[in-house]
Amino acid sequence: MNYKLLLLGLFSFAIFLFGSEAAFVKMTNAKCQSYNKSWVEVHYCRLKAYSRNKTSLNVNLTVLEPANNIHLRFKMMKRANGYKPFLWDYTIDACEFMRKRNHPVAKMFWNMMKDVSTVNHTCPYVGLQTLSDLHRVEIPLPMPTGEYLLLLDWMFDRRPQFASNVYFTFVEDPYIKS
Ligand SMILES: *[C@@H]1O[C@H](CO)[C@@H](O)[C@H](O)[C@H]1NC(C)=O
Ligand SMILES: *[C@@H]1O[C@H](CO)[C@@H](O)[C@H](O)[C@H]1NC(C)=O
Ligand SMILES: *[C@@H]1O[C@H](CO)[C@@H](O)[C@H](O)[C@H]1NC(C)=O
Ligand SMILES: *[C@@H]1O[C@H](CO)[C@@H](O)[C@H](O)[C@H]1NC(C)=O
Repeated sequence: MNYKLLLLGLFSFAIFLFGSEAAFVKMTNAKCQSYNKSWVEVHYCRLKAYSRNKTSLNVNLTVLEPANNIHLRFKMMKRANGYKPFLWDYTIDACEFMRKRNHPVAKMFWNMMKDVSTVNHTCPYVGLQTLSDLHRVEIPLPMPTGEYLLLLDWMFDRRPQFASNVYFTFVEDPYIKS
């Protein structure tokens, strides 16, 4: 990463921290799907209108059998004649992450949800899992204005079990355009 980009990143992060209204993220849709209903049952996966420019994400699902081996693939897409891969495509060991917080991008997402979810513990996961009213969504990186899609694919024992995909609009801060 070059210095200029790093500085821009830090600068925009500072702007988010201090609550600038200039660059913002708005979630526009959420879609969850279980691939294996004998392991994961999705009850609820919806956005709620929070204010004019803000929505909150609410997810409620049940893990029917204990999950001890969980991987998450998160892949970001940007809309341009359909959705194209953009910037992030990582697969992480979620159980290891919950013990070590060892992935910076995952950590950024974790920080947004840690206070509003029930997943604040290490593996295994079993039973009702919720994400309630997640609205503090911040992306501390300079990105172009546009429509994005974050694909979150959850694997238990290395096999896909469910997806939780979030569509959002990002509007860049006009003052930090390089
Ligand atoms: C919210 O939307 C209004 C009208 O579109 C706009 O004037 C305002 O700056 C927006 N607020 C944020 C935080 O972007
Ligand atoms: C689906 O879930 C069941 C119950 O936990 C599990 O035994 C089975 O291996 C899963 N199937 C796949 C393809 O992961
Ligand atoms: C989760 O969804 C189920 C089924 O719709 C509902 O019975 C339950 O009250 C919900 N729990 C929470 C914590 O939202
Ligand atoms: C869960 O949350 C509490 C309070 O926010 C925190 O002190 C604790 O370290 C968290 N535990 C894990 C495993 O993240």
